[in-house]
Amino acid sequence: MYRARMGDGGPDPRILGYLSSAREDAEIIRYDILGSQAHVLMLLKTGLVSRTSARRILGALSEILRRRRSLFARSGSTYGGKNAGAAEDIHELVESLVVEMAGAAHGGRMHAARSRNDQVALDIRMKVRDDINMMCGHILDAAESMVLFASNHRRTVMPLYTHMQQAQAGLFSHWLLAHTDALLRDYERLSGAYGRVNKSPLGAGPVGGTSLPIDRAYTAELLGFDGILENSLDATSTRDFAAEYAAAVSIMMSNLSRLAEDIVVWSTSEFSFVELEDDISSPSSAMPQKKNPDVLEITRARAAEASGYTGSILGIMGGLASGYGRDLQRTKPFLWMISDTGISALLAVQSVLGGMRVNKARMRRVTEASDLVALDVAERLVLKHDVPFRTAHGMAALLVQHAHAIRKSVRKMTASDVRSALRKGGSIDTKLSPAASDPKILHAITSSLGPVTSLRGRISRGSSGYAEQRRMISARKRAITRLRDALEERKKRVDDAFTSLKKQTKSV
Ligand code: ARG
Repeated sequence: MYRARMGDGGPDPRILGYLSSAREDAEIIRYDILGSQAHVLMLLKTGLVSRTSARRILGALSEILRRRRSLFARSGSTYGGKNAGAAEDIHELVESLVVEMAGAAHGGRMHAARSRNDQVALDIRMKVRDDINMMCGHILDAAESMVLFASNHRRTVMPLYTHMQQAQAGLFSHWLLAHTDALLRDYERLSGAYGRVNKSPLGAGPVGGTSLPIDRAYTAELLGFDGILENSLDATSTRDFAAEYAAAVSIMMSNLSRLAEDIVVWSTSEFSFVELEDDISSPSSAMPQKKNPDVLEITRARAAEASGYTGSILGIMGGLASGYGRDLQRTKPFLWMISDTGISALLAVQSVLGGMRVNKARMRRVTEASDLVALDVAERLVLKHDVPFRTAHGMAALLVQHAHAIRKSVRKMTASDVRSALRKGGSIDTKLSPAASDPKILHAITSSLGPVTSLRGRISRGSSGYAEQRRMISARKRAITRLRDALEERKKRVDDAFTSLKKQTKSV
């Protein structure tokens, strides 16, 4: 349809498939039509088309919207249907249908004061806007179920790890809340991006604007945008909003991947901290005893894919001089894959957590068997006996070393075990703090400390202590409710705009 300048022959069919964005445009057909409806209402309002023409075009657009699934049935990388042969993309195809249905005298007026360059940027923004809202909803669902899970495990003792080595006694709820907080940051990151996505580029024209007296703010409002993306060169050529969205999803995926990795490790027979439900695990084709955590492994792989998609978007964008370049068309498939990846991973992780059995007894046994109280011994000396931390740390190390040598846990050491440890004292200078070398004091501390006392005493803000878990669980519940309200509000603004757009379209 656009080939007036190029002579009679249609595009080379061997090249059309290569150029066509039909495959990826399937995701934006609806947005493209809604965008055209708003554009036509604006042309009517500003006197650029007559009521008769507007009515004819809007009638055609409504029919195309209704019949879009059959009209745009795709085959391979091009559209089916009689107009489809020479159409490079959805924008051309919709316009040619409008011209055919409304007649050239009316339909031919639809594309005044816009270009495919602002049009495609508009469509992508509308889709990403919806995808962000959908993803944010799934994030809140996942976060909410993790907080509920956490409230059932506020007393489930487990070791916490650094370098994959046991470090301190902790609680399973603490682990769940850590991942909840990461998800809530992912939510905020996406919401920040939303503000930058939700600006209308429509009316920017091909690159430098138009001499026709359009009203960009009006189309922005009709489509539920929060204002316009002002500079027409910027509006048509940037995809930074898309890269930002993709990066936010990639970060979320790397968070989910780390969660997945923990569960993969914990579900091994060596750990046996958790057991996955049968219906989300995969059997081995060869070894009947196996129950593989494939869903989590796919999540790890898809996190890596997501960063690849983001890298592709950035690479396409960064190589381009300012102004639209057809390269930008190729950002779309990666964007759609990003949305699919993020949403499906959130759903998968929720299913895994929903059916995961936690082996509390095993976690507790492992925590108790390991001397995870060494730091607590040192802190007790600091807190109750005014011992400098460095001396207290040395003393605790000495006791732990001796306990290991005599194959006992620190808390099972007798008073005479403590005395023998002290005899080996060596380089620790306890002149300034006699309590640090007082066997009675030390024995009283070691024999009273276990994971439970340790976690009772863990009072710092955000720690794995019992009291902090309770506080954090209720704080996170409140935060999730607040975010859900904000999300509903954000979605409602778009829904309301579309409802009123439909009404206005009908009343022309
Ligand atoms: N199919 C194109 C895309 O997806 C639409 C814009 C084409 N504009 C152009 N000047 N060739 O980006």
